[in-house]
Amino acid sequence: MSTAVSPIELWRYTEIVVLTGAGVSAASGLPTYRGAGGLWNQTDVAGHATAAAIAADPRKVWTFFARLRREVASAAFNPGHHALAQAQRALQTHQRLTVITQNVDGLHQAAGSARVVELHGTLRRSRCTACDFTRAEDLTSVELDCPACPSCAALLRPDVVLFDEPLSVRAEWEAKTALRACDLFLAVGTSGSVYPAANFVRSAEYAGARTIYVNLEPLDPPNPAFKEVHLGRAEELLPALFPAR
Ligand code: APR
Repeated sequence: MSTAVSPIELWRYTEIVVLTGAGVSAASGLPTYRGAGGLWNQTDVAGHATAAAIAADPRKVWTFFARLRREVASAAFNPGHHALAQAQRALQTHQRLTVITQNVDGLHQAAGSARVVELHGTLRRSRCTACDFTRAEDLTSVELDCPACPSCAALLRPDVVLFDEPLSVRAEWEAKTALRACDLFLAVGTSGSVYPAANFVRSAEYAGARTIYVNLEPLDPPNPAFKEVHLGRAEELLPALFPAR
């Protein structure tokens, strides 16, 4: 079902939603989670990235994510992130483009995107495992050892959503609000294996949106809710779909 890439005629749409995954940050040198070189293929996921892991040993979880934070600290946004930020800036006042990202690297914002829903949280913030304390992190100088909360002395954790943890109510609300009115939906660089994001295309289809899947490889199994598929690199296809205007 792969089709030639023609630029999206932005003027046709009022509520655009672009769901992004790790494939969008691959060209920035960051690992994806699954597939060749995937982070979860090299990690004891249960011991480092689950609700049970944070309950059992927050220090181990902190140190695991500290390494990823260092990689993110030296990563720059790529032409895929840039194309989406530029498309947002080209919109008229009655139009919106919401980026819903499963990525925790903050590279959409670094590229200048304004409406970004961070569905799985962000490495650029920490929060307390016990109280409401949160703080922004300078990723270039993040500690390898887990620090204590300055407010209550419990341990801090990265503000990311681990396996078996709920999404933030606000992020889920913002995502669903955009999807309800969506008339153009793209999923880019995501394997579609994590819910609820994997189901967003069905909400978009239900709302009557044009639905497009952009990825290096086809979805396995295919999802009939996607009516168009473009196979290739996000850093090439996003600038082709959303060229500078
Ligand atoms: N361009 C487009 N797609 C790419 C590129 C690229 N340059 N490089 C890799 N891909 C594709 C891969 O083929 C794969 O289908 O990106 C997809 C990445 O899939 P995952 O590694 O599963 O990442 P993602 O879908 O974002 O994972 C979802 O899983 O563990 C959780 O919280 C984690 O947010 C993550 C979630």
